[in-house]
Amino acid sequence: MPVKKMQDLDLAGKSVVIREDFNVPMKGGKISNDKRIRAALPTLRVALEKGAGLVLLSHLGRPTEGQYEEEFSLKPVAARLSELLGLPVKLADTLEDVRVLPGQVTLLENIRFLKGEKKNDPDLAARLAALGEVYVMDAFGAAHRAHASTEGAVRAAALACAGPLLQAELDAFAKVLDNPARPLAAIIGGSKVSTKLALLENLLEKVDMLIVGGGIANTFLAAAGYSVGASLCEPDLIPAAQKIMERARSLNRLLPLPVDVVTAAELAPGQQAVTRAADAVPQNQMILDVGAQTVAMYADMLRTAATVVWNGPVGAFETEPFGEGTQSLARHLAEGKAFVVVGGGDSVAAVEKYGLADKMGYISTGGGASLELLEGKILPSVAALADRA
Ligand code: 3PG
Repeated sequence: MPVKKMQDLDLAGKSVVIREDFNVPMKGGKISNDKRIRAALPTLRVALEKGAGLVLLSHLGRPTEGQYEEEFSLKPVAARLSELLGLPVKLADTLEDVRVLPGQVTLLENIRFLKGEKKNDPDLAARLAALGEVYVMDAFGAAHRAHASTEGAVRAAALACAGPLLQAELDAFAKVLDNPARPLAAIIGGSKVSTKLALLENLLEKVDMLIVGGGIANTFLAAAGYSVGASLCEPDLIPAAQKIMERARSLNRLLPLPVDVVTAAELAPGQQAVTRAADAVPQNQMILDVGAQTVAMYADMLRTAATVVWNGPVGAFETEPFGEGTQSLARHLAEGKAFVVVGGGDSVAAVEKYGLADKMGYISTGGGASLELLEGKILPSVAALADRA
């Protein structure tokens, strides 16, 4: 979908509104991971170098709309942004407080404090668009939301375009979804088939190999007739998993299942972990990771891949000692030659935990947005940008 790009526009002396996704994790009033703020910096620097004055918009968390809640204030974001940009960043409490001058940066308080944001109210969208002469949609992480600041304002603005971060994200996913270098592999982990059914069905049509991991793999093992003991498993989804396996066979796609698994009596730190054959899981044990033979089998397959998309870990990596499978797989991908796109909060957290993020082809800033792209959906704000182009 062609869209107008911020890089192509003359922004000298212009007031430019940029919707970013500064929805960062917070702990005790402090930002615990500023990756999304850092990811937006190149966009902001380019706009400033072009001579623009910036008004930045973002949401943070899910506050009650129409009221201020300190817990969801963007104050810590303004402070961090100011440090990273090396410029003062003024926090405007209301739309009326916004002033834009070339070279200056103002951040509007949490856009979800304003009534009408989530309902995509046309009046609010028009007011947001009117804050500047150009409206830049750069918030990939929120691009799947048809809200006033992500969709309505794009349609209402005098001139709307995509920012470089949004563009880079769309380009990375296009390398997987549109015309991938083959073989194309997908690794889809996470706890539940139910949350990723649409994604599994969509990707199976496109990929040459599909590796399922985590709780999803347990449901597939159960669908293949294995006993999964006390593991997380969705019996209701067994027919759906069987259908996917049948479809994979008819399309001649590889869909390997774990041959060995790491089990324990419960998901808790320091549990005694035992590696067993996938067909020998006792009733009182839970599958919490894949075993070394399975990782070796996946690594052999992935060695042949030219493109890999990874969404979701293959084990309960947050709890030791169940991170080994995810870590080894991440290492193989980091050392391999394939272009690897990592999307989705947990798989990104995993590659960051193992210090391998900069070895991957592309690390997405989007959780829900990347899921929806992989499901084959068109993101509403991207549709709006395409209409405006
Ligand atoms: C995200 O973190 O996925 C985005 O910022 C969207 O947030 P939301 O799910 O609250 O709309």
